Amino acid sequence: MWQLAAKWTQKLPAELAHDTAVFALAHGLAPIADQILLPVKAAGLSFDNPLGLAAGFDKNAVASQGAIRLGFGFAEVGTITPHPQPGNPKPRLFRLPEDGAVINRYGFNSKGMQVARDNLRKIHHRQGIVGVNIGANKTTQDRVADYYTTAHYLAGDADYLTVNISSPNTPGLRDLQHEAHIKQVLQAAIRGRDEAIGQVAARPPVFVKLAPDIETADLYAAMDASLAAGVNGFILTNTTISRPDDLQSPYRAQTGGLSGQPLTQRALEVLCMAATHLGRTGAKDIVLVGAGGISTAEQAYARLLVGADLLQLYTALALQGPYIVVKLLRQLKTMMRADGVDSLSRITGVMASSDQARSHAAHISRIAAEMSKNN
Ligand code: FNR
Repeated sequence: MWQLAAKWTQKLPAELAHDTAVFALAHGLAPIADQILLPVKAAGLSFDNPLGLAAGFDKNAVASQGAIRLGFGFAEVGTITPHPQPGNPKPRLFRLPEDGAVINRYGFNSKGMQVARDNLRKIHHRQGIVGVNIGANKTTQDRVADYYTTAHYLAGDADYLTVNISSPNTPGLRDLQHEAHIKQVLQAAIRGRDEAIGQVAARPPVFVKLAPDIETADLYAAMDASLAAGVNGFILTNTTISRPDDLQSPYRAQTGGLSGQPLTQRALEVLCMAATHLGRTGAKDIVLVGAGGISTAEQAYARLLVGADLLQLYTALALQGPYIVVKLLRQLKTMMRADGVDSLSRITGVMASSDQARSHAAHISRIAAEMSKNN
């Protein structure tokens, strides 16, 4: 029935379908999945499983618990800005099903941090890990101050905070990834958090989310500056402004961030470069979250192999419906059995090249498919 409902929403205009899905999750009208346990500890937090809902689905923090009930181990709400803002004019969300992709140029439509915090506080028995993704208002005079403000206001209600400086739909935002700015932004967010939460042990970890459209040297420089500022992890990656030549959809030339399958390979590569660089820095206990074009257990497995502690998806949920969560996690468990491992820590970061990871994941996926057939 839910698959049917999901199919039906595919016939609605894209943004209306999105709003409907958020409404359903916020009001308990979505399916409740069996919880698939695949425990991970990262940044001092305990996750029931490593798969999370990426930011951008639940912009006003109303649906995190519905997302957890779909089977996600964590949900990241936001991006939340200090003040309410409408975002870009509609239409601003486009499905590219031929390409397994979406283009969005929402532009941080947000009801603002006060509404988001009220919504977070309405949750009674909070389940799963809830991350809060923060951003700057489009017309702000001081972007850095916006990260201080949102971190300060929301830290007490977040299991972790994500500093989003990589959305392509707020002009100039991605410039904050440059070495010259990133440290300042992250220091502001961390100061906001620390001033809000005195007790060190109670402070939520801070992650920074980067774009896939970044040169290798800039990625390393951004990571070094982030580590110097004191971040606890990196989310790799946000959407891309690039447009592969082989996109089929008539919407391919729409302005905005492209997500889903066309991003898979690049996001894996950026994650792999980040993992290699982290190894070189010797930084300890830094979390890597793999995002971008994950829709199968095989793709998820490759991210884990190159070093992801956690994973996120969004576009696959939008295009395939709610059962993707449990399906992917079940297959991931079968793949681990096929690979002879019983815990995620045994596969995280064991491969240093994305090609090697992809081919191992493909191999294990074939064995797992055989195992499932024979069962
Ligand atoms: C996003 N994404 C996003 N990211 C973020 O940090 N803040 C945001 O507000 C949004 N908004 C948003 C809206 C829509 C419609 C999409 C599809 C995506 C990016 C998202 O969190 C994720 O990083 C990318 O979409 C890549 O993952 P998928 O979608 O390929 O699994």
